[in-house]
Amino acid sequence: MKDRVKVVVTGAAGQISYSLIPRLVDGHTFEDKIVDLELVEIPQVVNKLEGLVMELEDSNFPNMGNVNYTANFEEAAKDADWFLLVGSIPRGIVFNGKKIEERADLLQINGGIFVGQGQAIGKFGKPDAKILVVGNPANTNALIGRHAANNESQLWMAMTMLDSSRARSVLSKKLNIGIGEISKMIIWGNHSPTMYPDFENIMVNGLSGKDLINDMSWVENEFLPVVQQRGKAVIDSRGASSATSAAKAALDTVMACERPTQSGDCFSAAVISDGSYGLPEGIICGMPLMTTPDGKVEIVRDIILSDLAKEKIKISTDELIDERAAVEDLLT
Ligand SMILES: NC(=O)c1ccc[n+]([C@@H]2O[C@H](COP(=O)([O-])OP(=O)(O)OC[C@H]3O[C@@H](n4cnc5c(N)ncnc54)[C@H](O)[C@@H]3O)[C@@H](O)[C@H]2O)c1
Repeated sequence: MKDRVKVVVTGAAGQISYSLIPRLVDGHTFEDKIVDLELVEIPQVVNKLEGLVMELEDSNFPNMGNVNYTANFEEAAKDADWFLLVGSIPRGIVFNGKKIEERADLLQINGGIFVGQGQAIGKFGKPDAKILVVGNPANTNALIGRHAANNESQLWMAMTMLDSSRARSVLSKKLNIGIGEISKMIIWGNHSPTMYPDFENIMVNGLSGKDLINDMSWVENEFLPVVQQRGKAVIDSRGASSATSAAKAALDTVMACERPTQSGDCFSAAVISDGSYGLPEGIICGMPLMTTPDGKVEIVRDIILSDLAKEKIKISTDELIDERAAVEDLLT
């Protein structure tokens, strides 16, 4: 009998999920495991998911198990292995009669969602459940959810894989190499324009990427701004935020956690800081991670940070500290 994995996806009727959900059951992300899906939406749109379920059935995915859709997160959370928390309220939307423009308002509203979901995950999710927060502001949402879950054996992550994919794409063009030739692409800090893509520690076919780039003017004037502002550039062009690339990044994060990391490599996600690298403790911060052969996700601790890197990372961790202060009432 094949192994099974139960995956909860929130925001299941949204843009990212439309790209993400089919690929959870295509036999690639979870290899040959049978994937049971719990698709969660807010009550106002949950019925739309009936159409998505029809499409999933009609696609004949070989690894699709039971599929359920619901607006009841607690029910969905029971014994789940993975939680992909995509659902959140975007900036600019009218919520309870008020247009949400300020980051502080966004933090409060979405933070409120993550208190309830966090409590349910802590209580009903598997003890070794992995949680990937995609909905923005992802790092602080994950902090709130993790606090509410109060379950140390579960792993809370916020997604920075999309930032690392963007950085790889820009670097591969600069160095005229394939994406797969780049390893150790680390994103430090917040999933926001302050995040720091670490060009100094990347490796290209065993060689130092920094030496191969050897062009600080390009790093400062092109690489960093392009990667940091890529989300905005996509929104400006599409009139909607990144969806298919965000879905791919979520799948890449799941796969990075499900398979052992190759020796000498690492992957990017934000997890709770324990003070490693002198980062402030108690924020969800982008860091280098690895999955051990027995399936544990750990912080990689032997990266060397230059003074320049420390200076840039501090800008992002300061922002995370400010965000934490803005939701202090949700962390008591
Ligand atoms: N971390 C990243 O790299 C990254 C990248 C791109 C987008 N995002 C973020 O991902 C989120 C989703 O993006 P999208 O384009 O799919 O948005 P979308 O608006 O198309 O979909 C979001 C969905 O979430 C649902 N939702 C809201 N609150 C919910 C709740 N409490 N429970 C369940 N569902 C809920 C909404 O009804 C909606 O269908 C946004 O916050 C976006 O900013 C993050």
